Formats: sequence, structure tokens, C-alpha cells
Amino acid sequence: MSRLEDMMRRQLEQAERASAGAREAQRVERARALAARFPAFVPRSAGHAETKFDLTVHSINETPNRLRDLARRFARRPPVECDVTDFTDTPAKVAAAERLKSLLDGFGSDKARAHNYHHLYGAVLAETDRIGRVVEIGLGTNNMDVVSHMGASGRPGASLRAFRKFLPHAEIVGADIDRRILFQEDRIATVFVDQTEPASFDALDAAIKGGCDLFIDDGLHAPAPNLTVLLFALDRLAPGGWLAIEDVAPEARPIWETAASLLPPDYATYIVTTAGRALMIAVQAPAIDMVPLLNTMRDNVNSDGACI
Ligand SMILES: C[S@@+](CC[C@H](N)C(=O)[O-])C[C@H]1O[C@@H](n2cnc3c(N)ncnc32)[C@H](O)[C@@H]1O
Repeated sequence: MSRLEDMMRRQLEQAERASAGAREAQRVERARALAARFPAFVPRSAGHAETKFDLTVHSINETPNRLRDLARRFARRPPVECDVTDFTDTPAKVAAAERLKSLLDGFGSDKARAHNYHHLYGAVLAETDRIGRVVEIGLGTNNMDVVSHMGASGRPGASLRAFRKFLPHAEIVGADIDRRILFQEDRIATVFVDQTEPASFDALDAAIKGGCDLFIDDGLHAPAPNLTVLLFALDRLAPGGWLAIEDVAPEARPIWETAASLLPPDYATYIVTTAGRALMIAVQAPAIDMVPLLNTMRDNVNSDGACI
């Protein structure tokens, strides 16, 4: 081998060592960044950065499944699995759903057109004269800088106006993170809420004193914000009232099976398949008023969860 060839070979080896070192540094950095963002899921164990990265991802993905398994083992009332069309089980409910669909389509909401949600809403609201209040988080912003927007041609308030027209006496309350689209109209009031901030629900709380017959979450479609809504809405459903969480990712099903098993057994939970890939989670409050009972239970438990 000539001196020139030998020099070239050594330079090549040096470059390969440098790039292997850079790749290793990148892997360690990636593992550190993940650990910093998901501290609850990092193995508290010594080991190679890349292996710990994989184990952290495994833990993030599998924790909801193991919680679901635990919940299934002890659930007092497992959720009912059904299709959204199962709710329209009488001619009167079918007719109500069809009428609501034409209003939702006409006002520009995708609830019926894209998802078939009108089957549940038509059934639940079929006795239109008896419905006092409907609440919906998510007005349908057309500002494209907001996550969960409806596109530039979206019509904010579309579903609220459809519900107002469908329900002759009901008050319709909407809430959204996008203050630019809030509005007040005859029988429609809207307020600010940010589902990622439980403390931001005060205005909504004040606007729906006395409870509601139907509470819809069509805002930010992700588990933690949806669970915040569940916690808020449970105490505010009229006897026999409904909470519907729209557009739930099928991958989040274990989280909802777990949540369902934690509810008092008088609450019925449905995991509902709909048109498209999304699931809907529907919860019906018991026909008797549970709020005083829930408050008594809360008053009788200290901050550690022990009875007092
Ligand atoms: C899919 S659109 C609602 C469509 C409307 N309900 C309809 O049927 O016409 C979702 C809405 O959720 C709102 N949103 C996004 N993140 C939110 C959050 N963190 N809290 C409250 N609303 C949020 C968006 O501003 C948007 O208006």
C-alpha cells in the first residue's frame, strides 16, 4: 500500500469514527429530550440511552392498556359497545334524527354528514318540548391558526344554530378557546373555555347553572382535555341527561374503558362506533338527581380518599 493510500485509509476511518460518534450523541440527545417531556414514563434504572428511549415509548403506549385491564377486572358496570344507529330505535327517534340531520347539514356542521352523530342527538332530543338546555364545547372556528379548526370556509356556531332551530324552548350554550368567534344571539350564549385548563371553566359554570340535558364535547379531540370535560360535565347533567364526547381516536379506547369503570354504577357509558374511524363516548346520568349524592360522597372523604 502506498503512503498516499495509507493516508486516505486512515482519513476514511477517522471520518467513520466521527460520524458514529455524532450518531450516538444524537441518540443520547433524543433519549434525554423524551425523558424530559415524559418524566412519569422513564425507567428509573441505569442503562443504555437508546434502550431507555424504547422502554419509555413502550411505557407511554402500554400504560393505558394495563389500566384498562385492571379496570376490566373490577368494573362494576362495563361500558356498552354499540353503533350510533342503535340509538334511533323507534320511528319517532328516526324522524327526529332525520330532521336534525337536515338542520345540521343546512347550517354547515359536519356532525351528521361526516359522522352520523344525529342518530344519538336525534334520539336523545326527540322530545323537543322537554329539552331545557344544550351545551357544546367547540363552536367551529374558521381561524386556521387554532387546532381543531373547520377550515377557512367553516361556519362558527353552525351546530348551535341547528340545535336552536330544532329545540323550540331550549337555551343553547357554546364555549370555545377562540375568543374571536364568540357571539350572543337569541337563545344562544357563548363563553370562553380552554379544555386544557380546568380553571378556565368558571364562565361556563356560571352560564349553565341548573344543569343541562345534553353536553357535547366537540372541541379539542384528545384524551386529557376530554377527561377534563367529563369531570366538569358529570355534576351538571340533568337527571337522565347525556354527555357526548365526539371524535375519539380508536387508539384511545383503553382510556375510556378505564374512565367508564370509575364512574358510579348508576351512570351508563357507551363506546359508540360512528361513520368514519372515530368513536363517540356517551354517558347517561341516572334518572334520579345524583349531584347531592356525589357531593355527600365528596364531603365524606378526606384528601387521601379515606372515609371520614
Ligand atoms: C370541530 S370544531 C367544532 C365544530 C362545531 N361544533 C360544529 O359542529 O359545527 C372544534 C372547535 O374546538 C375549538 N377548540 C380547540 N381547542 C380547544 C380548547 N383547548 N378548548 C376549547 N375549545 C377548543 C376550536 O376553536 C374549534 O372551534
